[in-house]
Amino acid sequence: MNEECITALLSRRSVRKFKDESVPETDLERILEAGFSAPSAGNRQPWRVVVVRNEGTRNRLSRAAYDQEFIAEAPVVLVVCAVPSESAERYRERGRTLYVLQDTAALTENILLAAHIIGYGACWIGAFDEDLARSVVSVPDDMRPVAIIPIGKPSRPAPGRRSRRALSEVVVWESF
Ligand SMILES: Cc1cc2nc3c(=O)[nH]c(=O)nc-3n(C[C@H](O)[C@H](O)[C@H](O)COP(=O)(O)O)c2cc1C
Repeated sequence: MNEECITALLSRRSVRKFKDESVPETDLERILEAGFSAPSAGNRQPWRVVVVRNEGTRNRLSRAAYDQEFIAEAPVVLVVCAVPSESAERYRERGRTLYVLQDTAALTENILLAAHIIGYGACWIGAFDEDLARSVVSVPDDMRPVAIIPIGKPSRPAPGRRSRRALSEVVVWESF
């Protein structure tokens, strides 16, 4: 491990403007491989990712996300789905309501970071009509779409870093 990894974490930004340039299969596979290396409770990997390149489907996903139009402008849009039953099998209620969401959040963050590291921009989209998104890509009833991720080459330099709370505000030493 080296300082470059930290630099990658610090320089990632949500990207909402994309070039009209496709993402080659090899790059996409690399991003997905890194994504799926995320930790998950008991290594259950209770997740599926739908890869969408079709323009009509991207448009429908954009509409499902309350018309966040930049989603359709990305050449690839991923829909991250949680599979609560696979986590509940071992962890019952805690698996169904907590771990599965933590697992898919870790997957989503890994995807954002991997995309950034190999020169793409991406954005975590959580604001969408779940039923609509579900119907657009036919998510089975026992799964839940939890994040949409548009990915593409950024069409302009990365926006400046969004501010973060000071450590002193969010770190608690030893105990509250
Ligand atoms: C759970 C979650 C939901 C989000 N939903 C949206 C969204 O619907 N649309 C959007 O443009 N950005 C969305 N974002 C991105 C955040 O706005 C962004 O990460 C935050 O403003 C910090 O900016 P940065 O990612 O550039 O550091 C979401 C992020 C998270 C973690």
